[in-house]
Amino acid sequence: MLFLKASDGHELWLRKKNALPVNVVCAAKSATLSIAIQELQQGWQGKSGATLVLSIKKDKAVKADGFRLSQDGIQANTDIGILYGVYELLRRQQTTQPVENVLSNPSYELRILNHWDNLNGSVERGYAGQSIFWRKDNAFLVTANDKSRWLEYARANASVGINGSVLNNVNASPLILSADYLARAKAIADVLRPYGIKTYLSVNFSSPKITGGLPTSDPLDTAVIRWWKTKVKEIYSIIPDFGGFLVKANSEGQPGPQDFGRTHADGANMLADALKPYRGIVMWRAFVYAASDKDRAKQAYTEFVPIDGQFRDNVIIQVKNGPVDFQPREPFSPLFGAMKKTSVMPEFQVTQEYLGHSIHLVFLSSLWEECLQSDTYQEGTGSTVARCTDGSIYPQKYTAIAGVANIGLDTNWCGHDFAQANWYAFGRLAWNNQLKSEKIADEWIRLTFFESSSQNNKQASYAAEWNENFLQPVKQMMLDSREAAVNYMMPLGFHHIMSAEGHYGPGPWWAPPRVRPDWTPPYYHQADSAGVGFNRTRTGSNAVGQYHEPLASQYNDPTTCPDGLLLWFHHLPWDYKMKSGRSLWDEICYHYDKGVQQVRQFQKTWDKAQPYVDEERFIAVQRKLRSQSSNAVLWKDACLLYFQQFSRLPIPYDIERPVNNLDEMIANDMKRFR
Ligand code: GCU
Repeated sequence: MLFLKASDGHELWLRKKNALPVNVVCAAKSATLSIAIQELQQGWQGKSGATLVLSIKKDKAVKADGFRLSQDGIQANTDIGILYGVYELLRRQQTTQPVENVLSNPSYELRILNHWDNLNGSVERGYAGQSIFWRKDNAFLVTANDKSRWLEYARANASVGINGSVLNNVNASPLILSADYLARAKAIADVLRPYGIKTYLSVNFSSPKITGGLPTSDPLDTAVIRWWKTKVKEIYSIIPDFGGFLVKANSEGQPGPQDFGRTHADGANMLADALKPYRGIVMWRAFVYAASDKDRAKQAYTEFVPIDGQFRDNVIIQVKNGPVDFQPREPFSPLFGAMKKTSVMPEFQVTQEYLGHSIHLVFLSSLWEECLQSDTYQEGTGSTVARCTDGSIYPQKYTAIAGVANIGLDTNWCGHDFAQANWYAFGRLAWNNQLKSEKIADEWIRLTFFESSSQNNKQASYAAEWNENFLQPVKQMMLDSREAAVNYMMPLGFHHIMSAEGHYGPGPWWAPPRVRPDWTPPYYHQADSAGVGFNRTRTGSNAVGQYHEPLASQYNDPTTCPDGLLLWFHHLPWDYKMKSGRSLWDEICYHYDKGVQQVRQFQKTWDKAQPYVDEERFIAVQRKLRSQSSNAVLWKDACLLYFQQFSRLPIPYDIERPVNNLDEMIANDMKRFR
């Protein structure tokens, strides 16, 4: 009989273990090293009574926070390197990987979570409860509860190598720079510090005017420059290891240098100069809408490539993985590799804004791996997005990667037990951008679900059974989950056809007269009686021209364009013959249907896994899979019935018939806008 401890998921992948005795030798002392020693003593699964030496030694092969592991000990250049080595060692012990002679260096120097947390405690695009950092009532009171949350958060981050946190929303309130909020930021920074995590803040470009009382926020105005210098000095007097600023400027109504006729470079450089004496950085987002180009997918490139080379070396341009906005599938942003004289960092979205919130089980590692491994061809074959951003190709002063966090006050942190895997995967890929999703999923499942309690008799045979009946099928479910979501939401290159309200369900119809067209689905799918898809070829918007050859030509031709991006780049007739031999319309129908079938399979997989999961997590995930399944059907019905109005073709008869009526789905969706 199995004994499975109830779990509310709060411990994440760091569940308490029955540790064996270990003798840790460490000559140096620091808060970080004390944590390292404690972690070893609380988690040791190696030889009972073994001796392990932690040593800080300069070693040229060990970069930044990297480390060496061997049977006898851990060696690193820094204290935090030792702590990362400890987490890696414990992970290897728990996941039965060998420990002999490991050298591990991070792909990116800065591995940062962006919290879109508002100062009133709400979280923009957050689906796991209120902010862990800010709250409305007693806003400045720091309680013991706050501190223990922040500590658990810091530990979880450090265990996967994350070393930075931007504490507030990119749509930043100028109040963040007031004394009261800075004092709270300091309290947070103090808790995060021993875990090697630096604190950063998002700032509002109009702060000098709004809170500083200046008549302008023009980045070339001397009073404005002075105001930022003074503010930065104040911040460093409170948080001496402050990391720097994240800025969303001239985007979606946010102020920026263009309000004063200045460029993004003028704005970013002004802040960079203020931060430079303290070695702070500016992460300047490329998520902008340039009026100069009608195709939304081209705007970031159009705006930023001409100013490549004009940025200070402590500015990093933060670029979303795709050119539009965190859709289930996009081609990689053409800015990767194209800005050759400026540091560029990828921004991934860990929170599932467009991928089913905290209801759908979608393992995003596959999406990020696809982006990181995409070849830009900018410097010949093999110039992947990963290599274009991690310093392998371009000499960047700083290398960095950001993930928009999916963390909130929910007991299990992320809303969905499996959404924890996305937090985990972001950290692991930020540390090693060559990791495979399969390995990440394998590790995460073992750490999160394997119950090695002594009550489980016959450990060895249980492990084999668990491997076959739980690990393998659940891993397969995770690895299939992203493509399943693409299939039932936006297959074959469809994008941005979700409901406007909440970005959760389908909404290919949504186009109220006063809304800017590039916020509406019809702008993106362009369905008409002749066909469907956005013509971004040379005869259309020529977005293909922003990609390096051979990609430009490959994307330009529907016969060589990957099926997964077909309708992103092409407007094609409904009877267009696909590589499969089917018509485009049939192919669309089969993809939606396949997505639904995949989620049904996930339900079966999970139900079969019941004996190996504690009841609490089993039921929570089972319930969510049911909702995901019915939402997948809604997506399929909505999109097929909506597009059928244009295609005027039958849904292939071997596919399940829709069970929702189009007019009712539209009415339900539109009700929310009245
Ligand atoms: C998306 C998202 C917004 C967010 C924006 C951004 O548009 O819906 O909530 O502010 O991205 O990344 O700045």
